Amino acid sequence: MKTILELITDELGTAFTACGIDTKLAKVVLSNRPDLCEYQCNGALAAAKVYHKAPIQIAQEIVSQLGNSPLFEKIEAVKPGFINMTLKKDFTAWYLGKMQEDEHLGCEIFGAEKTVVIDYGGPNVAKPLHVGHLRAAIIGESLKRLYRFTGHTVIGDVHLGDWGLQMGLIIEETRLRQPELPYFDPTHTGGYPEEPPFTISDLEEIYPTASKKSKEDEAFAQAAHNATVKLQQGDPGYRALFRHILTVSVADLKKNYARLDVDFDVWKGESDAQPYIPAMIQSMKDQGLLHESQGAMVVDVQEESDTKEVPPCIIQKSDGASLYATTDLATLVEREKLYHPDEVLYVVDKRQEMHFTQVFRTARKARIIRPETKLTFLGFGTMNGKDGKPFKTREGGVMRLEYLISDINEAVFQRIMENRTMSEEEARQTSETVGLAALKYGDLSNQATKNYVFDVDRFISFEGNTGPYILYTMVRIKSILGKYQEAKAGAALPTELPAAADDSEKALQLLLARAGEIIADSCRSIAPHKLCQYIYEVSDAFNSFYHDHRILTEEDQTRQAGWIALLGLTLRVLDTCIHLLGFEAPDRM
Ligand code: ARG
Repeated sequence: MKTILELITDELGTAFTACGIDTKLAKVVLSNRPDLCEYQCNGALAAAKVYHKAPIQIAQEIVSQLGNSPLFEKIEAVKPGFINMTLKKDFTAWYLGKMQEDEHLGCEIFGAEKTVVIDYGGPNVAKPLHVGHLRAAIIGESLKRLYRFTGHTVIGDVHLGDWGLQMGLIIEETRLRQPELPYFDPTHTGGYPEEPPFTISDLEEIYPTASKKSKEDEAFAQAAHNATVKLQQGDPGYRALFRHILTVSVADLKKNYARLDVDFDVWKGESDAQPYIPAMIQSMKDQGLLHESQGAMVVDVQEESDTKEVPPCIIQKSDGASLYATTDLATLVEREKLYHPDEVLYVVDKRQEMHFTQVFRTARKARIIRPETKLTFLGFGTMNGKDGKPFKTREGGVMRLEYLISDINEAVFQRIMENRTMSEEEARQTSETVGLAALKYGDLSNQATKNYVFDVDRFISFEGNTGPYILYTMVRIKSILGKYQEAKAGAALPTELPAAADDSEKALQLLLARAGEIIADSCRSIAPHKLCQYIYEVSDAFNSFYHDHRILTEEDQTRQAGWIALLGLTLRVLDTCIHLLGFEAPDRM
């Protein structure tokens, strides 16, 4: 299905051709002067240069071609050469009718043949999830849903941080505490226990203790390093213990991500990439890409057009150990083998940009990916506190995600209880739905690359550009639809959309007609904030419409049925969009 913008562009294109002007110049955009018109075309200005004619003359010729167009209520040439358009009301209503029949609301399904891996987790095993991982999860989940909606086959990968010194630290600390365990007995034969020797609470205490100790106690630090090496070399006892750490930690992570309504298709980690490293390094050597630099093996990735230095990508340290980049490259080897992706999209803190520049360049040079594979880095900004510094707890520590969520839910709960329209139990449940929307919308409504200030009071407000405001609008619509249906003894809701009869109705219709275009654009430009901006505008337009019309008391049944149909479509558009953003609306709030 074409977008409304494409239909208008096509209509203008025909007129351009009829006037002997290149159709490509018939570009239509949303009007930047909504007081004058709804859409505009500046193509006559560009054509004037090519065809050596006055722009206003070209604009007039085109406009006269379109005098009888079924699309325009008004089309005019305005000096110096703009073409201003106002759509016919029944054309807009006709388009909305088509949209209603389309399960994708008119959004172009441009990813049907494409496979995309989205890497948007990055939590580190045995360390609690903290707010730093929040943005990756929220933005990545939304992008995953957008890519799916536009037809892509998507593999969301959590890409656990499960292969570093933290593993050695935990193993060594466990060894000191429970030396009698079979994992540490080199003469042990047979299997290992199925029960892990620790719980998640144990792990959460063991890791920070060990980490702190390693900074103060050199012997311990060395032992933890040795344990890491031993694990990486495949010691069976250490591998068995490693699997326990993973199982316990992943179960907890899954619980936390579930609270965020974030889920991953694959739970792979850095450790899964390790088997690919030796062959990958060999291939780099064979291709003559590796050279020694200060004892390490590196690949040069500086390019002539670089304006700043891009240091070589370090593949192997002098002691043979591999690094973060090595793992990311080997992960690409695995992804290519398993999924053959057309695109790999990384949603990671923007402070890791240089790392990804090095990794992407090396991957291309070493032909780890196919030349046509797209590698995209979406680097997000920091979530800051009101002081403008990275968000911390009141005590100055790293805020754990679960506490942050509980704080928001509690604040929403208080807000709901102020109105006392529902039982405490329902309010608790509702506050979880609304709290999540507040948190996610607060994040997603900002351009991902920018830093933003985490401000609970603003995020949970029922007014302004917030998640709760959107939900409140939806709840209002649901309530009207419910009452209408009740009055009609449960009959099906009308769906026939008549032409708009006044300005606020037309404004709402025009906005709804753009749903497909906006969804497609948010996906193409990996920008969920555009979707937020859109639903904010739709909510505002709906609330103006609501303000201007007494829907439930309207006596003209046909008019009323038309409005109800419009409400139904508004709700569907909002519902689709919030689902793409990763949250849901309650029935009441
Ligand atoms: N575990 C990393 C961190 O906490 C993030 C991983 C991001 N993804 C990747 N493929 N490198 O910083």
